[in-house]
Amino acid sequence: MQVAVIGANGGIGRELLPRLADAGHDPIGVVRDESQFEAVRDRGGEPRLGDLEDDFDAALDGADAVVFTAGSGGSTGADKTLMVDLWGARRVVDACVDAGIDRFVMISSVGAGDPLAGPEPLRPYLVAKRCADDHLEQSSLDATILRPTRLTDAEGTGTVSLTLDERDDTPEIPRADVAQAVVACLDIDRTVGETMHLTGGDTPIEQALGGDD
Ligand SMILES: NC(=O)c1ccc[n+]([C@@H]2O[C@H](COP(=O)([O-])OP(=O)(O)OC[C@H]3O[C@@H](n4cnc5c(N)ncnc54)[C@H](OP(=O)(O)O)[C@@H]3O)[C@@H](O)[C@H]2O)c1
Repeated sequence: MQVAVIGANGGIGRELLPRLADAGHDPIGVVRDESQFEAVRDRGGEPRLGDLEDDFDAALDGADAVVFTAGSGGSTGADKTLMVDLWGARRVVDACVDAGIDRFVMISSVGAGDPLAGPEPLRPYLVAKRCADDHLEQSSLDATILRPTRLTDAEGTGTVSLTLDERDDTPEIPRADVAQAVVACLDIDRTVGETMHLTGGDTPIEQALGGDD
C-alpha cells in the first residue's frame, strides 16, 4: 500500500517510515519543508510537501491509506492547537473522503475521551484531538484511532498494553512502539472502527491489536 504519513518529520513519523517500508508498504513522507526531504528518503519514504495550514492535497495523490501523526507541539499556543491539531486533522480527513482514500489511522491522545478530566493546561489540546477524532469517526473512512499515553524516545520494546490504568503512574510509551502499532493496524482488519488506548505494557503489539488468530 502507498501510505501517506502526515507529520513524517516528527518523532513518531520518523520511526514509522522505515517500519512501513520494512513491512512492504510504499511510504510517502509528508513534510512542510524541502530541507526535510533527504531525511525522508533516508528512511525509505518518498518525500512530498504539505502544510496543514496551507495546501497539502497533492501530497496525498495515489495514497491508499493516511496516517495522521502531526502535532502543533507543546511550545506553541492555542492558535496552532486549533489550526493544526483540530482543523488540520479535520481537513486531512475531508481530503481523504474527497480523494477516495479509505484507510485512516489517527494518532490521537490519551485524555481525548474526556478532555475536562485532563490537566487544565492540556484541555484545549485534548478538546482539539477529541473533535478531530469525532470528525473521523463520523466520516465514511475505515478509521482506527490510537490514543497513546505520554510518548518517549526510548527504544521500542515490541510490546504494549491496551488497558488504561487510571492511576497517575500509567506507563508512558516509546514512539517506536506506537509506530509499530500503526503498521500492525494497517494489517489487521479488526482494528477498523476501533478507538484504542495505547500504553507501555507486556503484550506483543500484533497480539494486543487482535492479530493473533
Ligand atoms: N507528546 C506526547 O507525549 C503525545 C502524547 C499523546 C499523543 N501525542 C500525539 O502524537 C502525535 C505525534 O507526536 P510526536 O511527539 O511524535 O510529534 P512531533 O515530534 O511533535 O512532530 C509533529 C510533526 O508535525 C509537524 N507539523 C506541525 N505543524 C504542521 C503543519 N502545519 N503542517 C504539516 N506538518 C506539521 C511537525 O513538522 P516540523 O518537523 O516541520 O516541525 C512535526 O514533524 C501528535 O499527533 C501528538 O499530538 C503526543
